[in-house]
Amino acid sequence: MARPAGAQCCLRAFSSLRAVASTPAALADRQLQRGQQLAAQQQRRRRCDPTAAAAGGGPDNGAGVPPQERKAGSGKIGEASGDFFPEDERLQNWLFDEFAAVSRLFGFEQIDFPVLESAPLLALNLMARPAGAQCCLRAFSSLRAVASTPAALAGRQLQRGQQLAAQQQRRRRCEHIAAAAGGGPDNGAGVATQERKAGSGKIGDASGRGMVDINPPRGTRDFFPEDKRLQNWLFDEFAAVSRLFGFEQIDFPVLESEELYVRKAGEEITEQLYNFEDKGGRRVTLRPELTPSLARLALQKGKGLALPAKWFSIGQCWRYERATRGRRREHYQWNMDVIGVPGVEAEAELLSAIVTFFQRLGLSSADVGLKVSSRKVLQAVLQRYGVQEASFGPVCVVVDKMEKIPREKVVEELAALGVAAEAIEGILQALALRSVAELEEVLGGETPAVADLRRLFELAAAYGYADWLVFDASVVRGLAYYTGVVFEGFDRAGVLRAICGGGRYDRLLGTFGGEDQPCAGFGFGDAVVVELLKDKGLLPQLRHEVEDLVMPQEEGLRDAATSVAQRLRASGRRVDLVLEAKRMKWAFKQAERCGAARLVLVAPEEWSRGAVRVKDLASREEKDVPLDQL
Ligand code: HAM
Repeated sequence: MARPAGAQCCLRAFSSLRAVASTPAALADRQLQRGQQLAAQQQRRRRCDPTAAAAGGGPDNGAGVPPQERKAGSGKIGEASGDFFPEDERLQNWLFDEFAAVSRLFGFEQIDFPVLESAPLLALNLMARPAGAQCCLRAFSSLRAVASTPAALAGRQLQRGQQLAAQQQRRRRCEHIAAAAGGGPDNGAGVATQERKAGSGKIGDASGRGMVDINPPRGTRDFFPEDKRLQNWLFDEFAAVSRLFGFEQIDFPVLESEELYVRKAGEEITEQLYNFEDKGGRRVTLRPELTPSLARLALQKGKGLALPAKWFSIGQCWRYERATRGRRREHYQWNMDVIGVPGVEAEAELLSAIVTFFQRLGLSSADVGLKVSSRKVLQAVLQRYGVQEASFGPVCVVVDKMEKIPREKVVEELAALGVAAEAIEGILQALALRSVAELEEVLGGETPAVADLRRLFELAAAYGYADWLVFDASVVRGLAYYTGVVFEGFDRAGVLRAICGGGRYDRLLGTFGGEDQPCAGFGFGDAVVVELLKDKGLLPQLRHEVEDLVMPQEEGLRDAATSVAQRLRASGRRVDLVLEAKRMKWAFKQAERCGAARLVLVAPEEWSRGAVRVKDLASREEKDVPLDQL
């Protein structure tokens, strides 16, 4: 297993993360365990009041969020599981929404950082730095919590100070939209503004104390408030579309057992793992994709899983690859997967969700297309030439490289897999087919590949998105586990890499030692689509929006102003309270910066009458408002 060059990683606070081996035997154990647990759990849930469950996370633990969290040593499901089944995820969303809502009531802006940080930065947090470690997983990760990591935050504050002046200058030159996109004038590669060259961000004082690299690890992003607003907007759209289609959200730990991804088919993803050995000697990795984790959850539920299951997830993935436009070492993926539906009705529904998402963003079939094919095409060709079934996955992985490496190299690699010259020729011819009719001529109308694709195009017409689909036999996808229909979203201008991709994978669960289930799904990255929206001028303008800026006119009225702010927050208004003695001029500037609709001034004369002075910042009108009418 290749170890990311120069990225010797270590893991901190590790024992609290789920890191048990997911061997087939362990998975089988978990399946059983889960089955037994489900009945007991349901019974307990019925006994518990929803508030207690919400507060405690699960009826039987009272200390964490997921109900499947078990006491240490109680079983393989995890010393502390990071899996979130739909019921757990609902609870987590509720909790995080409350964190965010309270932060916003207080006029705070959300930020975020990579889950992987450099070790010296974490040393700021007084954490021991394991010898030789250059990176650490951050101690506290809370996806949507506001500013959750003190050390990272301290580092970023410094970084922010240095950058602000330069950034403001650059921004003045850029369209507001590009700034809102977060891509920032100097990277153009994702949703965050501050991609920097490695080594450019060292800070330290004259005594030589604490030379800390304040940049996020190479190829990763920080999210300043403007970046985070954009990300929240995007993720809300992902979630909204998933819910329109009746999907439930799930989640898993960002750290997984390495063996979930080692498929021995020569996939790029296996070579790009952020993998390492934990202190217990287990091989673990930051997940490069979400599908194996989803399969793990399906296996845990076993026969207790009501089919079909329609699950979505939004999570960070890590791949040690070369950062290019829209391609990063860390990215977020939105996944939607259907478990338990063998027919292409599942794929048609998934493609419809993708199209719905594009449409909500203002993109049309003139901007974006969806290339569709089926791996059954290749399967039919391989069968015709008597190529062994075991070669199917590796052949697909090689064929997927067609656009990236010269044809001769593909031929060479196929030959190395033992595929005869005649069969290679047959494969290459099949990949050049550009219509289902042509495919039918070559394979015959009765083959599963042709039948699936015909039906899929019929369904697309019934849904009303046929104009988005393009049959392209060269699409096979680079992951070994696909077995049927495969698809990829592409920008019609041809400048960006795949926007999204997915397909049918009916045998993945079996490779983990469980019972196979028909599955289909897709992964949709957060970076390429933002680049596309930027190019099309479709990024939303998102502002920090508090409703009221509350300020005492003089320090003697600070307590009064505090009570006014609390009264407004209690009524649900988002309030930025001025915490220091400031002049009116500053207050107006601040109101503009935070997008406040009103300036609420607590002034002596009005206060003595039980009122405050309220200025509507849009109309510039001012009036006295009695406290009980605020
Ligand atoms: P994938 O094609 O490897 O498929 O990734 C899906 C999407 O994730 C890509 O189309 C792209 O939008 C985004 N993506 C992948 N790598 C990067 C990167 N380094 N930087 C930015 N974006 C990236 C999968 O991962 C499958 N597990 C999808 C799936 C779900 N199939 C069935 N269910």
